[in-house]
Amino acid sequence: MAYQVIIPAAGQGKRMGAGKNKLLVHLHEIPVFIHTLRVFEADHACSEIVLAVNPQEEPEIKRLLKDYGIQKVHSLVAGGTERQHSVYNAIKTLKNDGIVLVHDAARPFIDIPIIHQLAEVAERDGAAIVAVPVKDTIKKVQARKVVTTIERSSLWAIQTPQAFRVSLLLKAHKDAAESGFIGTDDASLIERIGVPVTVVEGSYDNIKLTTPEDLFFAEAIMKKRNSAIKNKGE
Ligand code: CTP
Ligand code: MG
Repeated sequence: MAYQVIIPAAGQGKRMGAGKNKLLVHLHEIPVFIHTLRVFEADHACSEIVLAVNPQEEPEIKRLLKDYGIQKVHSLVAGGTERQHSVYNAIKTLKNDGIVLVHDAARPFIDIPIIHQLAEVAERDGAAIVAVPVKDTIKKVQARKVVTTIERSSLWAIQTPQAFRVSLLLKAHKDAAESGFIGTDDASLIERIGVPVTVVEGSYDNIKLTTPEDLFFAEAIMKKRNSAIKNKGE
C-alpha cells in the first residue's frame, strides 16, 4: 500500500510563542519537523513527501533537510494564509493518483503501524482519519453558561494523519475554495460534499505541539519511548 504524504509546515506557531515557527524548535537537539519527517523517511510505503513551507523560511528548511539527510522531500510548495490553503497548494502539485496522507508537521509522534492501517482503510473507503476517544466531558458553552452536555461515548478527538484518494481530496478542496469554506481539517471538506469518512483509532501519544506546555509533554513521550527501546534491548 504505497502512499504520498503532504506535510503542512507553513504556520507561524503563534500559540507556542517561541518567537519563530514552532517547527524549528528543538526536541532532543533535533527540530520538531525533522522528527516528523523521519517517520515518513523510514516508512517503506511512503513514496514521496510534499512539504508546504513559508517562502521566507525556505532556505533554512532546505538546509535542514540536507543536514539531516531527508531524501523523500522532492518538492517544497509555498504555504498559504490558512492551513487549508497550504494543503491545497500541495495537492495541486501531486502527479500521481492513489492515496495521499495529510499530516501536520507539528505531530512528531505518529507511528508507522497506525499510518499503514489508515492508508489501507483509505484505499478501501476513500477517506479515513486517525482519532482517539475523548477523555474529558465536553459541554457546549455560550457566554460562560452551559448550553448542553454532549454524550461522551460518541465523541472522538480528531488528529492527523488523514488519508484520501487523491481525486477525492482535490475535488473537496476545489469545492471548498469555490464556496469560500474554511475547515479546521481536511476531512471536514470531504464531509461537506457528502462523502463518508472512516475513523481509525490512533494513539494518545500523537499530540500536536501547540502551546508551550506541549513541549514538556513531548519530552515525556520521548523519554517513555527511549526507555521502552532500552528495555527491549536488555
Ligand atoms: N500550517 C500551514 N499553513 C498555515 C497554517 C498552519 O502549513 N497557514 C501548518 C502548521 O505549520 C502545522 C499544521 O499546519 O504543522 C497545524 O497547524 P497549527 O498547529 O495551528 O500550527 P500553527 O498555525 O503554526 O500554529 P498557531 O495556530 O498557534 O499559529
Ligand atoms: Mg494554526
